[in-house]
Amino acid sequence: MLKVNVIVTILIVGVNFMIELNGNEFYNKDCIEVLKSLPEKSVDLIFADAPYNIGKDFGNNSDKWKDAKEYLNWCYTWIDECFRVLKDNGTFYIMTSTQYMPYLDIYCSENYFVINRIVWTYDSSGVQAKNKFGSLYEPILMCTKSKKSKYTFNAEDIMVEAKTGSQRKLIDYRKSPPQPYNTKKVPGNVWDFSRVRFKMKEYQNHPTQKPEALLERVILASSNKGDVVLDPFSGSFTTCKVALDLGRKCIGIELNSEYFEQGLKRCGYENEV
Ligand SMILES: C[S@@+](CC[C@H](N)C(=O)[O-])C[C@H]1O[C@@H](n2cnc3c(N)ncnc32)[C@H](O)[C@@H]1O
Repeated sequence: MLKVNVIVTILIVGVNFMIELNGNEFYNKDCIEVLKSLPEKSVDLIFADAPYNIGKDFGNNSDKWKDAKEYLNWCYTWIDECFRVLKDNGTFYIMTSTQYMPYLDIYCSENYFVINRIVWTYDSSGVQAKNKFGSLYEPILMCTKSKKSKYTFNAEDIMVEAKTGSQRKLIDYRKSPPQPYNTKKVPGNVWDFSRVRFKMKEYQNHPTQKPEALLERVILASSNKGDVVLDPFSGSFTTCKVALDLGRKCIGIELNSEYFEQGLKRCGYENEV
C-alpha cells in the first residue's frame, strides 16, 4: 500500500500533530478542534464510532462525562461539525452505546435524515450475564443530510447470499421463460460480524476495535474509489485501513498518541511514526 513517492507533511502544534501522507490526513488531536478546521462539504463519507460514556479505558479518561447531559451536548457539537464537513450527497454513520443511541437517534432525526437503523450483532465469548439478558449488539445509524440527498449506495458491491432454506433453486414463474431466483441480495439491517479477538490477524491493541468486515460493507456501499472517508474517533484506525485498501482517501483523527502511532503503522506508514 505504501507508495514509492510518499509525500509527507508534518505539522507539529504543541504535543499534538497532523501528518499528511499521499493526500491522506492523520491527526493526533481532539476531533472537534480538527473538524472545525476542515472545509465545509469536503467529505464523502463519515464513520463516527464515538466514546460511549460508560468508562471504557481509552488511556486518556476520554470515556466518562459528568452526566448524560454533558456527554450528549458534547456529541451534538461534533455531530453538527460532521454535518458541516459532509458533502450534500455524503453519508454519515454513527455508533454509540445502546443506552445513549436513543438520544442521538432523536438528534440525528432532527438534523439529518436517518436512512437505516442497523444492529451489529455478535456472539459473546466474554462474561455471560446471569441476572439479565446478555448484551450482544451495538446500534449504528446511517444518515444523509436530507431526505432528498442523492447519496451513494453501491448495492452490487455488498451483495450477500440469499438464504431461502430450500435445497434446490427456487424458480420465478412470473418471468417468461421461468428463471431461478437471484441467489444474491442486499444485506438486511441486522449485521452479524464476529468481534475482533486477540488471535485474529487484524487484532490491534485497542479495547473497542471494530471488525474490518463491518467497515468494508460501510465503505463499499457508501463511497466510490477516490472518495474521502473521515473517521473522527479512529481508535485502531480500522476505517482508514479499510478505506485505503479499497482505494479511497482517508482522514483519521485520534486523541490517544499510542493508538495514533499504532494506527499509522496499520495503514502502512511505519517509517513516518
Ligand atoms: C469507540 S473507540 C473507536 C474505535 C474504532 N472504531 C476502531 O475500530 O478501533 C473511540 C476512540 O475515540 C478516541 N477519542 C476519545 N475522545 C476523542 C476526541 N475528543 N477526539 C478524538 N478522538 C477521541 C478514543 O481514544 C478511542 O480510541
